[in-house]
Amino acid sequence: MTPYSQNVDIGAYACQLTIRKGAEMARSKVVLAYSGGLDTSVAIRWLQDRELDVVAFTVDVGQPCDLQDIKEKAERLGAKACILDARREFAEDFILRALRANALYEGQYPLSTALARPLIGKHLVDIARREGAKFIAHGCTGKGNDQVRFDLCTTALAPELQIIAPMRVWGMTREQEIEYAREHGIPVPVSNASPYSTDENLWGRSVECGILENPAIEPPEEAFEWTQSPLDAPDEPTYVNVRFEAGKPIALDGKHADLQSIIVSLNKVAGLNGIGRIDHIESRLVGIKSREVYECPAATVLLKAHQALEAMVLPRDLLDFKRGVEAKYSMLIYDGLWFTPLRESLDAFIESASERVTGEVSVKLFKGSAQVVGRTSPNSLYNHALATYSSGDVFRQDMAEGFIYVWGLPARTWAAVGACPQPKLVKAAKRAR
Ligand code: ARG
Repeated sequence: MTPYSQNVDIGAYACQLTIRKGAEMARSKVVLAYSGGLDTSVAIRWLQDRELDVVAFTVDVGQPCDLQDIKEKAERLGAKACILDARREFAEDFILRALRANALYEGQYPLSTALARPLIGKHLVDIARREGAKFIAHGCTGKGNDQVRFDLCTTALAPELQIIAPMRVWGMTREQEIEYAREHGIPVPVSNASPYSTDENLWGRSVECGILENPAIEPPEEAFEWTQSPLDAPDEPTYVNVRFEAGKPIALDGKHADLQSIIVSLNKVAGLNGIGRIDHIESRLVGIKSREVYECPAATVLLKAHQALEAMVLPRDLLDFKRGVEAKYSMLIYDGLWFTPLRESLDAFIESASERVTGEVSVKLFKGSAQVVGRTSPNSLYNHALATYSSGDVFRQDMAEGFIYVWGLPARTWAAVGACPQPKLVKAAKRAR
């Protein structure tokens, strides 16, 4: 183990095992977060070469790929493979909290990748305990945020487990990895012909690398998979109607549905209308600025609708205070601090603030833009009789002058003091004379 963390010094570990070999062959188990891509496939073999039995664990968080294929691939590589469908849990326990918090990192990124990491991490820990594994492994590099998120989950939930991050230690370039894969009979997925590194789940798709690393160049159309180019989007707008109850979407276009299905439907319809493309220079936790491209159609629509409803039902001071909590909450998700008492306490506030966020919002989807065009709520604070400039106005305009007199008192006092000469201190003895 390195002195700083739960990270295992895998070189030293393999060496110890080699020495022990022959006497007793105690192979330990490692549970690897397995995506089926090149990195984690190479990692299976690399870990096996270090005398570890690999359990390849894939969590279904709504990534559109054939999970059975992935499982079989892991098995062909000699790993024990398992898949867990966590889509519902992801929607109900993670996405919903982020939505109620209007979570957008740096005001732009709906945190799709970041949000799935603690869910995957939690299940990695469960499986590791069930399998009696000593190690947890992931395919994250040493330059990104995801390594921090996985490592911190393990730290928070299972300090007894050790972490192996092969990509942080093996020192192979992409080309060397492909070479290693070919040498070891590991199939190199066709997707590796693509220059992009992607990550997908219900809440969005992240795209990095290739030409996107030049922030001056517009992302080429081929980088996008979930969204139609706004140029090719339908020439007529599509309206969607989202019903919320206590901040949770519960129906789409009048049909009751669970959150997971609402997200899946919205990804389709909003994606078709070219909505949810995000191009952002992101400040990574590890200090690097990186150019990130996202496709988050459903997240874009739901976040806008949710914010619009809140604007109608929450008072100004609560909205303002909540914006501060939201920024903190977003950063906490980004920074891998999901399993912390701070997150739980902020959740308690957000849940309480969401109690009245019930109502319906209509969003117009048209050629890349999602615009809220209507909202209704039984808890609306909007009062037509107060707001109107037409007949029926009940607002006492004559009272405004008195209100402004008192409201402006500090400003008037400040200005008056500034205009006066500085008074001198008078000593008591002097005054007595
Ligand atoms: N920059 C984003 C984040 O840190 C997305 C990371 C995408 N990960 C990936 N393996 N392509 O959350």
